[in-house]
Amino acid sequence: MKKAVFIRNAAQLVTLKGSSHAPRVKAEMSDLGIIEKGSVWIEDGIIQDVGPDAELMAVYGSRLADAEVIDASGKLVTPGLVDPHTHLVFAGSRESEFTMRLQGATYMDIMNAGGGIHATTGATQAASFDELYQQSYSRLNQFLCHGVTTVEAKSGYGMEWETELKQLEVAKELNQSHPIDVVSTFMGAHAIPTEYKQRPDDFVQLLVEEMIPKVAHLGLAEFNDVFCEKGVFTPEQSKVILEAGKRHGLIPKIHADEIEPYEGAELAAEVGAISADHLLKASEKGITAMAEKGVVAVLLPGTAYFLMAESANGRKMIDLGVPVALSTDCNPGSSPTVSLPFIMNLGCLKMGMTPAEVITAATINAAHAINRASKIGSLEVGKQGDVTIFNVDNYMKLQYSYGVNHTDTVVKNGLIAVRGGNLIGELSLS
Ligand code: NIG
Ligand code: FE
Repeated sequence: MKKAVFIRNAAQLVTLKGSSHAPRVKAEMSDLGIIEKGSVWIEDGIIQDVGPDAELMAVYGSRLADAEVIDASGKLVTPGLVDPHTHLVFAGSRESEFTMRLQGATYMDIMNAGGGIHATTGATQAASFDELYQQSYSRLNQFLCHGVTTVEAKSGYGMEWETELKQLEVAKELNQSHPIDVVSTFMGAHAIPTEYKQRPDDFVQLLVEEMIPKVAHLGLAEFNDVFCEKGVFTPEQSKVILEAGKRHGLIPKIHADEIEPYEGAELAAEVGAISADHLLKASEKGITAMAEKGVVAVLLPGTAYFLMAESANGRKMIDLGVPVALSTDCNPGSSPTVSLPFIMNLGCLKMGMTPAEVITAATINAAHAINRASKIGSLEVGKQGDVTIFNVDNYMKLQYSYGVNHTDTVVKNGLIAVRGGNLIGELSLS
């Protein structure tokens, strides 16, 4: 195998240069650092050079035989897309709830009746490690085919230690075996298990005193997330859980203000969360507090779409100075999709973001939301060789022509993983 990859002559090469130190806000989100007729030289998995093709040819023209040369003329080249919020590792499927919701049942009604997250928890508890691994591996393949090269993955379909551990270990194994980087989050606080319904504080205690210390000790997660929502974890309980994580070195994240206003955005700012996610019902006070603290808003318009709710106000958040990122929220109940490009279309149509802003939100700002901006999210010398090539000739078309997978080629850590829209042979696992 050749150790270099040379992507040449892109119609537009989106570099997003210069924002590894802090997430982009306001007008910075529109500054994509585009190079026309741009090229990238990747060697040993790392980006070694980025610039106009003529300049790179002057340096590397004599080494073309050493490299896998990819002609990107007429195409859009971006940093590999980053998905900063998924529930990747789960078993089963919940299409029966889809019909119930279409007939009027709400997401919370279904969950409170023992379905929803509880149904997936049952299926995940019952699945073997190998079943979970294989299902999640296939999902990662689909992500890759949509141009995504890094995925955050939450536990939370265990609600008891053994299954939480199984999910986290599957995520760890996937990170090692699959080209996509999988970044792990502990989300033991995803729902109150039925047996703790009458005494939720006992479950909080179990999380704080046993599970969080074990997860941290085993090095199985970097982040600690909680579903702070009326009927699930209160802001007070969420704070206790997130502070416990912090004491053990886990960085806080929050599912905040998704269904009802609950001061989750305020709590994110108070505990110094790296991100607050969902935020459909976040208050202006909470949004302002997030802007002041630089908490990334990870917005999930696919979830709002699928739950037939009004999306978060992404436009307002950007205007108030919050760094905004986008994610699929890939999960079996509220957003069963891997298409980050479709989420980018929804970012434009449902949240008033511009095509340039949604690209920033799905690359460098998403990398910031998972503490990876020094390695991924932009095309800059020294970063991982994670690059996606789309079959469109400018960045606006990626969102404009929707419901179509425009991914042509994906380079991950300097190796070609997708070519002509298809996974390269050895990846497909069946
Ligand atoms: O982010 N809101 C809570 N958790 C997930 C949904 C999980 C599920 O329904 O299985 C979410 O939407
Ligand atoms: Fe989620």
